[in-house]
Amino acid sequence: MKEKIRKIENEVEKLLKNSKTLEDIEGIRIKYLGKKSELSNLLKSLKNLTQEEKKEIGPLANNARKNIHSKIDKKKELLEENFDAETEWIDVSAPGNEIKKGSLSPLSIVQQDIENIFTAIGFEVADGPEIESEYFNFDGANMPANHPARDMQDTFWIKTDSGDGNGQVLRTHTTNCQVRYMQTHTPPFRIIVPGRVFRQEATDASHEHTFHQFEALVVGKNVSVANFLSVAKSFFSAFFGKDISVRVRPSYFPFVEPGFEFDISCTNCGGKGCSTCQQTGWLEIGGAGMVHQNVLVEGGYKRDEYTGFAWGFGLERLAMMKYKINDIRLFHSGDTRFGKQF
Ligand code: DAH
Repeated sequence: MKEKIRKIENEVEKLLKNSKTLEDIEGIRIKYLGKKSELSNLLKSLKNLTQEEKKEIGPLANNARKNIHSKIDKKKELLEENFDAETEWIDVSAPGNEIKKGSLSPLSIVQQDIENIFTAIGFEVADGPEIESEYFNFDGANMPANHPARDMQDTFWIKTDSGDGNGQVLRTHTTNCQVRYMQTHTPPFRIIVPGRVFRQEATDASHEHTFHQFEALVVGKNVSVANFLSVAKSFFSAFFGKDISVRVRPSYFPFVEPGFEFDISCTNCGGKGCSTCQQTGWLEIGGAGMVHQNVLVEGGYKRDEYTGFAWGFGLERLAMMKYKINDIRLFHSGDTRFGKQF
């Protein structure tokens, strides 16, 4: 029996020396320490021995078991620490797995561009609520109840039109921030207000129920149409990175007098005429005008003490021009193939 035990120990020693993987080691463990192993059987058969023999063989067999155990553990540790450079090398120059990154919406990019251009020339960026009182959205902007101009903007009413300015709406334009800002600030000031607005209208390639505008408002002494034209020209030239001309056409908005529609020279052909501008050389941008004295009075100023200019137009439209996007519905489509391009 002594011989047998020694033989087992030798065998294990040899096998461990030649083993290369953790699986090899596990195989050895099962074969030599498992329930059905030679050593286990040997230990079980001790009971058939004489008292004398038991005393001698018992400790030998137990020691052998302990030895094998610790040798297996050691080899295991060794294998875990040292990897085989032949088979387990790492190519540090291999390209990694691509990490999927999100991207900024073209609207965010355009909004950041606009804010950078305006803050550089001394404008502040102001903000206002999307759920707005009827007063700031309409009445304060010189559109009292039953004013026909309210029909120009199909409105989502949250609390219905009570006729006393206490209704609640999803703001239909960023013009809601004009009187809001005036009531808490004293001229002179220059602000822009980028933000989300809502209209209850059918969608198509150029109309959305939810879109963004940005309002500009400059109020002070002797602010003139010439100031408006010059700021507009500087802004659009900076935004498109080329010389842009601006023109105005007479129009009507209740909160301005006089009011204009204004156009910029075509960003594609520079004014010569092409398919983008339908051969006119001009692109329609939005509304503008000299702030109506009624609005300045709602803002808390004395009539005729100040003058100001304002404009409001769609951020989507600017983004569509800049990036040649042909359908406004793409902005809210949630299609990542769209978002990834900017
Ligand atoms: N609020 C107008 C709209 O959404 C746009 C607008 C026109 C804003 C003229 C202005 C302005 O500030 O002066 O249709």
